[in-house]
Amino acid sequence: MGADGLIIELDKVGLSYGGEPETLSDVSMRLGEGEFRFLTGPSGAGKTSLLKMIYLAHRPTRGRFSLFGEDAMNAPREALPALRRRIGVVFQEFRLLDHLTAFENVALPMKVAGINQKTNTAKT
Ligand SMILES: Nc1ncnc2c1ncn2[C@@H]1O[C@H](COP(=O)(O)OP(=O)(O)OP(=O)(O)O)[C@@H](O)[C@H]1O
Ligand SMILES: [Mg+2]
Repeated sequence: MGADGLIIELDKVGLSYGGEPETLSDVSMRLGEGEFRFLTGPSGAGKTSLLKMIYLAHRPTRGRFSLFGEDAMNAPREALPALRRRIGVVFQEFRLLDHLTAFENVALPMKVAGINQKTNTAKT
């Protein structure tokens, strides 16, 4: 979290896909710890694009963007996975891996984070 308690800070952010006119223009928002936001709008308004930006699947093409008080706009690519690990996303399509069991799917992020199997199962 930033010193000012902000989790997400977008300031006049723009996003364009491959040189197209901007899909998002001058989007500004701030989200503090423990706050909720609901994002609504017609199909094609850019809801998914905004969320993808927040979970760092796309970088904005202009503006200022901070996550947990860190500059996500100019952070080197190598710094992004650590930031991304602090963000939880529940996708509309669940993106479960078919060849894994339900338990293995849930445990996978812990495995990637280096938490051992004993710790995993101790909590079940
Ligand atoms: N990867 C992409 N490349 C190019 N254009 C894209 C890409 N993703 C989205 N777009 C375009 O950006 C605009 C916003 O799309 P987006 O999917 O963010 O809207 P949405 O609000 O989530 O819509 P829906 O309610 O249908 O899910 C649309 O015009 C879409 O065609
Ligand atoms: Mg969408």
